[in-house]
Amino acid sequence: MTVPETILWKQQRLQLLDQRVLPKQVEYLHINSLAEAVTAIRTLAVRGAPAIGIAAGYALAQSMRDVQPSAFAETLEANAATLIAARPTAVNLRWAVDRLRDTAQRDPTYEALCREAEAIDAEDRNQCRLIGEHGAALIGSGANVLTHCNAGSLAVSALGTATAPIYHAHAQGTPVHVWVDETRPLLQGARLTAWELAAAGVPATLICDNMSATVMAQGKVDLVIVGTDRVARNGDVANKIGTLGVAILARHFGIPFYVACPSSTYDKHTATGADIPIEERDASEVRGDHAADVAVFNPAFDVTPAQLVTAIISDRGVVHDPDETRLMALFG
Ligand code: MRU
Repeated sequence: MTVPETILWKQQRLQLLDQRVLPKQVEYLHINSLAEAVTAIRTLAVRGAPAIGIAAGYALAQSMRDVQPSAFAETLEANAATLIAARPTAVNLRWAVDRLRDTAQRDPTYEALCREAEAIDAEDRNQCRLIGEHGAALIGSGANVLTHCNAGSLAVSALGTATAPIYHAHAQGTPVHVWVDETRPLLQGARLTAWELAAAGVPATLICDNMSATVMAQGKVDLVIVGTDRVARNGDVANKIGTLGVAILARHFGIPFYVACPSSTYDKHTATGADIPIEERDASEVRGDHAADVAVFNPAFDVTPAQLVTAIISDRGVVHDPDETRLMALFG
C-alpha cells in the first residue's frame, strides 16, 4: 500500500485528500470555491504547514479563473486575505499566498498564477527529498526515532519533513523504528503518522503522549525528529501542541531533538517564538464525548525555544545549535 497523494491538481481543479476521515476512509474533496478551500483548511481536511501552503496556492489561483482584468488586482487581494486568515500559525500559508501576489505584480493572469502554484508544489517535493538526504545521516543503524504529530507525506506534497530522513534511511536498508506520539486532541500521530509509516513498511509503535517520558527513561529513544509550522528568526520553533514537552524531556534525557522543515518555514519577519500567533481551537476537540461541560484551553501549537533544538534539518542543509546568525546565513 502507498499513501494517497495529499493534494491533486487535475485540469486546473483542486482536490484535497480529506484527512479528517483518515485512515478509515480515503476520500477526496473537490474544491469548487474559495470558501470551500478555507473550510478545508480550517477544519483540517488539509493540514500540515507545507500542505496548507500548497493548497492555498492552488486555491488562490483557481479562485481567479474567470476574473476580469479590470477586477484582477482587487479580487486577488481580497481572496489572498481570506485565505491567510484561515489558520494563523503555519507561515507557509502566507508565504505561498505572497508568492502568488508577487507573480501577479509581474503577470496578472490566471495562467501565471496556476504556473506559480504548480512551481510551489514541485519545489516542495524536491525540498522534502533534500531534507531526507541531509537528515538520513543523523539516523544510525537500528535507531529508534520519536516523532510527534504528523510531519509526514500527508502534511506536504510527498515524503514529509520529519519523516523524510526516516523514509530515506529505510529505503537505503538502514533499520529504523519509530515511536509515534498519538498527539491529542486530534490524533494526527495515531490516525496519520502510524498509518503512513505502516503503508511504507517502516516499523513503528504507537504511544500515548504521556508515555514518551517512559520510553525515553527506558533508553528506547535515540533521537527525536518533529516538523514545524514556523521557525522564528532566532530559531524558536512552533509545532503541534505537546512538542515543547517532548523537547524538554529530550534535553533531560540527553537525546538529540531535531526539527525538519523546508526553507519556506523560516520566517525572518518574526523575531522570536513569542511573536508567533498560536491558533486556539474549539473546546469540543478537547472535551470529546467524555468531559463535562467545563472550561477548556485548546492551543493547537506550542513554541520550543531554540536552546532546546539540537539542529534544524532543512533542504539547504543541517543547522546545528540554531540561532539568528546561523539561520539568517542559510535562509536570510
Ligand atoms: O494542526 P496541524 O495538523 O496542521 O499541525 C501540523 C503540525 O504541527 C506539523 O508538525 C507541522 O505543520 C509540520 S508539517 C511538515
